[in-house]
Amino acid sequence: MKIGIIGCGNIGRVVIRAVFEGVVDCEVVCVFDADRRGFEKLPKEVISCLLFTDKFDFFIMQDMDIVVEAASQEAVREFSAFVLGGGKDMMIMSVGALVDAGFRGQLVGLAKEKKVKIYIPSGAIAGIDGLKSAMSAGVGGVVLTTSKPPSSLGVDTKTKRIIYDGYAEEAVRLFPKNVNVSATLALAGVGFEKTRVKIIADPNLKENVHEVVVRGDFGTFSVRVENVPSPDNPKTSYLAALSAIATLKKITSPLQIGT
Ligand SMILES: NC(=O)c1ccc[n+]([C@@H]2O[C@H](COP(=O)([O-])OP(=O)(O)OC[C@H]3O[C@@H](n4cnc5c(N)ncnc54)[C@H](O)[C@@H]3O)[C@@H](O)[C@H]2O)c1
Repeated sequence: MKIGIIGCGNIGRVVIRAVFEGVVDCEVVCVFDADRRGFEKLPKEVISCLLFTDKFDFFIMQDMDIVVEAASQEAVREFSAFVLGGGKDMMIMSVGALVDAGFRGQLVGLAKEKKVKIYIPSGAIAGIDGLKSAMSAGVGGVVLTTSKPPSSLGVDTKTKRIIYDGYAEEAVRLFPKNVNVSATLALAGVGFEKTRVKIIADPNLKENVHEVVVRGDFGTFSVRVENVPSPDNPKTSYLAALSAIATLKKITSPLQIGT
C-alpha cells in the first residue's frame, strides 16, 4: 500500500520509522509538512529514501492509496476534501476537527461519493473495540475519566481534585488538549451529548491516565491506560502514535482481528 503523510512531527515520524523497519507493509511515497525541521529529525538513511515537500499541490499529485494526517485540526479542515475528493483513503489523527457535525457530515458524504474510507485510530485510549461491539445493542453509559498532573491542566492543587464533570460536547471546548480522546470515544459510541467526561488533577501522577467505563446490554467493561509520552513529543501519548501503525497494519493484513 502506498501512503502519503501530512505532518512529519512525532506521530508522522513514528509511522515512517515503522514502515522503514518493516513493521507495516507499506511504502511511504511522499511526506508533506509546512515546516521541514521535523523531517530533518529522521535518520539520514531514511531521509535519503524519502520524497519531502512543503507544497500540498505537489503532494496531492502523487500516486498514493491512503494519506495519513498527523498534523493539526487546521490541516484536516484545509486538506481532507482534496484527499477524499481525489479518491484517496484518509487516516485522521487530529480527530478534534471532526467535533463539528457539519464538517464531519461533509467529509463522510464525500467519502461515500468517492467510495473511499476515513480511518480514525483508537489513539491514546483502549476499549474502542468493545464499545463498538456494545453499540449493536443498548448502551446505557460511557464514561471517560482522564487524570493528569495538575501542571498539565494549568491547575495548582496539592490534593487529587475533580476539575470537570460533564459531557463531551462541552468538555472538548473547555479542555482542547483532551479533545482527541473525548472525540474518538464519542464518535465510536453514544455521541458528544451522552459521553460523560470527568477530568481529575492528581499531584501523584507523572503521566496521563485514561479510564473508560462502558455499561450496556452486554454487561460492563472498564479499561485503564497509563500512558507514557512519545519519544520526542511529551504532549503526545506513545500509544496514540502506535495506534496509527496498528490501523495501517489492519488495513493491509488479510487477517482482521478485533472489531
Ligand atoms: N487521536 C489521538 O488520540 C491523538 C493523540 C495525540 C495527538 N493527536 C493529534 O495528532 C496530531 C499530530 O500530533 P504530533 O504529536 O505528531 O504533533 P507534532 O506537533 O509533533 O507534529 C505536527 C507536524 O505537523 C505539521 N503541521 C501542522 N499543521 C500543518 C498544516 N496545516 N500544514 C502542513 N503541516 C502542518 C507541523 O509543522 C509539525 O511538523 C495533532 O493534531 C495531535 O493533536 C491525536
